[in-house]
Amino acid sequence: MRIRDIVITGNPVLHRPCARVEHIDDGVKDLVQDMFATMELAPGVGLAASQVGVDLALFVYDWVDDDDVQHRGVAINPTLLIEPAPVGPLDEEEELEGCLSVPGERFPLRRSDRVTLTATDLDGNEFTIHADGWLARIFQHEYDHVLGVLYIDRLVEPHLSEARDAIHQIGWGVPGFSWLPGRDHLED
Ligand code: NI
Repeated sequence: MRIRDIVITGNPVLHRPCARVEHIDDGVKDLVQDMFATMELAPGVGLAASQVGVDLALFVYDWVDDDDVQHRGVAINPTLLIEPAPVGPLDEEEELEGCLSVPGERFPLRRSDRVTLTATDLDGNEFTIHADGWLARIFQHEYDHVLGVLYIDRLVEPHLSEARDAIHQIGWGVPGFSWLPGRDHLED
C-alpha cells in the first residue's frame, strides 16, 4: 500500500469522463486500498480514481455522520439518481464544499438533499444506497469526478469568478500540478 499523489485541477484526467472498470483485478484492488489510505491522510471524505491520476470510474468515501454512524465504501462504475435540489438562496456556511484537487479552497454550492447511488463493490456485487444530507453531497461530488466535472465547474456567481481567480492566482488550471498527502502541507 502506498500514498498516491493527488492531481490538481488542470490535469486532463480530471476533466473528462472516466473509463468504465471492466475487470476488478489486483490492480483495481491495490488502487482502492491506496485510495483509502490517501484519502485518510489527506484528509478527505471522498476520493475518485481520477484524482490520483487513474482514468477509471470509481470512488471511495469514508464519512461519520452526526450520530457517529460510519459510511465507508467503494463505488465502481457508479450511477446516481439525483432528486431536484431545493430552491432558495445559498447558505454560504452550511453549503460550503471543497475538493482535494482544488486544495485549500472552499466555495458554497447548492446540491440535492437526496440521491440514490447504484454501483459495484470490490467483489463485483451491485449495491444501492439511498443517501440524504451530507452523504448525498459526497456522492454527488464524487460522481461528478467520474463524469469529469469538478465542483468548481458548477459554482454560480460570484463564487464562480472567485474560484477562477483563486486558481489563476495560484497558477493551477494547467497540467502538471499535484500534491502528496503526508509530505506537502496545504492550508485548508
Ligand atoms: Ni473532489
